[in-house]
Amino acid sequence: MGRENQTIGVVGAGAMGAGIAQVAAQAGCAVVLTDSSSAALDRSEAQLKKIVARLIEKGRMTTEEGDNLCGRIQRSTRFSDLANCDLVIEAIVENLEVKQSVFREVEAVVRPDAVLASNTSSLSITGIAAALERPERFIGLHFFNPAPLMPLVEVIPALQTQIDLPVRCVEWMKDWGKDPVIARDTPGFIVNRVARPYYGEALRILEEGIADVPTIDAAMKEQGFRMGPFELMDLIGNDVNYAVTESVFHAFYQDPRYRPSLVQKRHVEAGWLGRKSGRGYYNHDSSSVAPSPSEDQFLRAQVAERILCMLMNEAIDAVFMNIATPKDIERAMTRGVNYPKGLLQWTNDWGPDKAYGLLENLRERYQEDRYRPSPLLRAHAIARQPIAIGD
Ligand code: NAI
Repeated sequence: MGRENQTIGVVGAGAMGAGIAQVAAQAGCAVVLTDSSSAALDRSEAQLKKIVARLIEKGRMTTEEGDNLCGRIQRSTRFSDLANCDLVIEAIVENLEVKQSVFREVEAVVRPDAVLASNTSSLSITGIAAALERPERFIGLHFFNPAPLMPLVEVIPALQTQIDLPVRCVEWMKDWGKDPVIARDTPGFIVNRVARPYYGEALRILEEGIADVPTIDAAMKEQGFRMGPFELMDLIGNDVNYAVTESVFHAFYQDPRYRPSLVQKRHVEAGWLGRKSGRGYYNHDSSSVAPSPSEDQFLRAQVAERILCMLMNEAIDAVFMNIATPKDIERAMTRGVNYPKGLLQWTNDWGPDKAYGLLENLRERYQEDRYRPSPLLRAHAIARQPIAIGD
């Protein structure tokens, strides 16, 4: 079916829903954007007009294209307006019961062949599907913020999802200009699982007093990351980042690898959420001067290696646990969160024995299971064999 004949429903007109609606409309689909709040719908309309005006100003879009794009999105507070949709993507509050109840209402109005999807970042796709009468048509479609700019979409089949639906969704997302990967329905899927040590180990290094915030950030930026872990947490919001960590930690039955940090909890308690509250790990007042990092190159290298070996271990363990193919894990981290290099390739460039050795040293020093190397990393380190990534 041509895109111009597709009708896409989006439930929730917040940061993600509005972005997903824009993506579908830009691909040429008719979009029905619904939200229980008419104020949220109005905000999303004003926001889109601003974005389009900027694109026209920059010469990336003609006025006619801009008008057509805006005209393709219909806004409504009624789910009944989703009746004609081929695909409905939900992006409302991150709460299982609320999502299940919304999907029951949506399912009651859509066609029996309509595909239903959730943009959840941390809930079980299988758990949401269980509320549906036809769970086989349900799937996770996880976009990244901001959805119109970030190419990655994680496609996550539930246990109940019909066998051909993931591949259909991959084609669908490619047709919208996205770069989809298929991930298993496990906590954090690919990106929110593999990226956890970027925050967690940085916080641990800070907590131990090994290095301060600007030094840790400088150490990671030196490795090619666009933002340091603390700059990134201040951007995401400490409340949001802490909630994701806590959810992944509990979903993995309190695995110490994902343990949340008290340092971050205190920042949340203090209301030091980051940019949105004016203060986080940094002071975001325009008048304040950013503190300088330490110039100690040995310290910076030590910090970077510690965070990197934890990230590499996480990526290799995701391969070991069949979360996704090695190639898709590489693409997820470079296309979803702009990592400078795939973590498996990075491990190979180091040699797997280097990451393994660093982890074993940490495990020896702390006697903590947090630092256990993945069995797959161990096997590659012992055999001194690179990890096969595929092309
Ligand atoms: P948001 O708070 O900006 O927007 C949520 C919208 O849903 C609000 O406009 C609200 O009025 C509406 N809503 C709430 N309950 C509703 C209901 N029962 N019926 C209809 N509309 C309802 O949230 P955001 O950030 O857009 O997140 C939405 C979803 O996307 C969450 O599941 C979140 O985990 C996920 N997500 C968020 C990302 C992010 O960076 N913000 C990234 C990827 C996924």
